[in-house]
Amino acid sequence: MAILLGIDIGGTGIKGAPVDTDRGALTADRFRIPTPDGALPEDVARVVGEIAKHFDVSGTIGATFPAVIRRGVPLTAANVDAGWIGTDAQALFAAEVGRPTIVINDADAAGIAEMEHGAGKDRSGTVVMLTLGTGIGSAVFTGGVLVANTEFGHLDIRGKAAEERASDKAREGEDLSWEKWAHRLNEVIAEIESLLWPDLVIIGGGVSKKHEKFLPLLETKTEVVPAQLLNEAGIVGAAIAASRV
Ligand code: BGC
Repeated sequence: MAILLGIDIGGTGIKGAPVDTDRGALTADRFRIPTPDGALPEDVARVVGEIAKHFDVSGTIGATFPAVIRRGVPLTAANVDAGWIGTDAQALFAAEVGRPTIVINDADAAGIAEMEHGAGKDRSGTVVMLTLGTGIGSAVFTGGVLVANTEFGHLDIRGKAAEERASDKAREGEDLSWEKWAHRLNEVIAEIESLLWPDLVIIGGGVSKKHEKFLPLLETKTEVVPAQLLNEAGIVGAAIAASRV
């Protein structure tokens, strides 16, 4: 049994917990520290260090980050400070915690957790996970293997990024009815269907707790199901990714 630390870096909070990667379960309560104002690299690294110190867990640390991540380096910054682009986040965090650290995209991490221990378990074919929050994150698996860094939240829908129209932030910010928002989400899924023809779509992010309000309103060709790990998915997926290096 491997117990590794997973850390989920988000716009409002940075949360970590030890994870039994075989069971996909937290072995202690989450420890959360609010994301420092501006979320600058050094400040976020300091928080990652505090979370690591809080738990008596050794081994590689897995961390999520809400951007395209290639070999531990953010390449985009849609909802984070532009100073992250090109910063070696993985090296920065590893230097802070004094142990090997891996950094992957937040939605990819959530998808890994769902595929291993949640709604995507034992599902073959092509599975798309969408996380609906401040932005829209995506993760694509085919035959269980992740195609990293898909950015379906930035698909162009009616001249705007998909996430600007159909994220949970857009729903709340524009005070959209469930019907209106489901219609927008439907358009995003329809675009993904036309490109990928997935076998299953998993909807995650905090709003997936209220899935009965909007999933029945979708008119998709594909089976759409709610995520099962909810707000633990990022932490669990990050730890699983760390167990694979
Ligand atoms: C970013 C993605 C991220 C998603 C969810 C998007 O704006 O481009 O990389 O996965 O937000 O946080």
